[in-house]
Amino acid sequence: MNIKKGEIVELQIEKYAFEGKGIAKVSKKELLGLSEEGDREKKYVVFVHGSYPGDTVQARLLKIKNSYAEAIAINIIVPSKDRAKAQCKFFGTCGGCKQQDLDYDAQVKYKQQQVEEIFEKLGGFSGFEIEPIIPSQNVFHYRNKMEFSFSEKRWLTKEEISKGRIFDKDFSLGLHIPKIYDKVLDVDECFLQSEVSNNILNFTRNFFKKKNTSVYSTKTHTGFLRNLVIKQSFHTDDLMVNLVTSEENDELINEFCDELRKEIPEVTTVINNINKKFAAVAAGDYEKVIYGPGFIYDEIGKHKFRISANSFFQTNTLQAEKLYQTAFDFAELKGNEIVYDLYSGAGTIAIYISDKAKQVYAFEAVESAIADAIVNAELNNILNVKCFAADLYKSFLPIVDKYNIPKADVMIIDPPRSGMHPVTINDVITLSPEKIIYVSCNPSTQVRDIKMLVDGGYKLVKIRPVDMFPHTYHIENIALLRK
Ligand SMILES: C[S@@+](CC[C@H](N)C(=O)[O-])C[C@H]1O[C@@H](n2cnc3c(N)ncnc32)[C@H](O)[C@@H]1O
Repeated sequence: MNIKKGEIVELQIEKYAFEGKGIAKVSKKELLGLSEEGDREKKYVVFVHGSYPGDTVQARLLKIKNSYAEAIAINIIVPSKDRAKAQCKFFGTCGGCKQQDLDYDAQVKYKQQQVEEIFEKLGGFSGFEIEPIIPSQNVFHYRNKMEFSFSEKRWLTKEEISKGRIFDKDFSLGLHIPKIYDKVLDVDECFLQSEVSNNILNFTRNFFKKKNTSVYSTKTHTGFLRNLVIKQSFHTDDLMVNLVTSEENDELINEFCDELRKEIPEVTTVINNINKKFAAVAAGDYEKVIYGPGFIYDEIGKHKFRISANSFFQTNTLQAEKLYQTAFDFAELKGNEIVYDLYSGAGTIAIYISDKAKQVYAFEAVESAIADAIVNAELNNILNVKCFAADLYKSFLPIVDKYNIPKADVMIIDPPRSGMHPVTINDVITLSPEKIIYVSCNPSTQVRDIKMLVDGGYKLVKIRPVDMFPHTYHIENIALLRK
């Protein structure tokens, strides 16, 4: 009998794979019930979604390839000892925290293993030091920013459907579920943000539902409401509500702001970003400050930072300090170095390390982030940080030449998930700093870029993961390279 896609098999999960899949190793002949003679060694790999090492599961086969198969666990026969009870009622549907059912100690253990494997197997690196992952101090309510989407197509959970109530399917405010881009899960409580942020989320939904306000459709590109972004300071009382809409409507937004402030007086600033673009990004073409200063302040270590609606700021404030301190320790600055901070955001790393550098030059593309970085240097009385607008998809050597920027001894590079553009990697190799500290929230692109840097004359010295995103399988990792 040949087992085919869709059929159910029993598997023992031995390993953890990238993006939270469990791995079972089986004999292909035995698994697929092939009768021909052949290799009975357990070499065939089955990636099983929704499983962890130590589980025995019944799984449905989703894909059968020559070298591997994919399956999804439908019944846990024997649970792994690492399993934990997920706290959130949306767990399993929401795309937010997919590992809430895994004990936190196991989460960080597997993240560490993942980074090691990515560097050793994917990158082919050896002879470098691997320091232990730094776990997150808080594992719930750790995010200082949450971005919710409005949708005119609500995704209903199995429980919601089974309750049989008639739901308002044309209006939802919440989070996307994996691989479904137009429907949104109506979330009324998220364990990654604070209680007051949950109140803002629910107030906003109720307010606009009562008003029958239209929701932007990603298909027809009509409708008003697009996103709700909440930013909350960890160290101050600042709390920003940013409503992203497809056009202006002062009367409605002002009413929303007044009612919101009455209901939730903790809100310190309200912003309206107007996004006329088709792309589903929660940043506007321009923004209007409806109430308050239009930004919030937060602190990392001894420094205070101004953060605007569209500036990047590390989402786990307490871990950001550990991340920056690790980057700082890797740099081993003596005080006389010229440092470049590439992809500098609101200047946070540049400012954090500035005490121990002669001069720091920060390069960033987003205008509001550069403006924040300049203000942040002033706010902290720092005179040795200079900020430059630079699109690091293009060469930044002309900027270095134009402003006579001295050559860097150390570069700290913290690009977005997609990693560095090859042009920027070549620039770095040309500028030839003694040390490179590469901070990344995506070790796969990090390894790809580090391979190019190694080809350009650098040596990978050490790495250290830092868990910024508990319950998700996202990994932050810092690498030190030397010329
Ligand atoms: C992961 S964040 C790091 C920011 C900062 N280092 C921090 O820790 O807050 C990446 C930054 O890269 C910036 N960025 C994205 N694409 C860019 C580009 N093409 N050129 C320059 N900066 C870019 C983003 O605006 C963001 O501020």
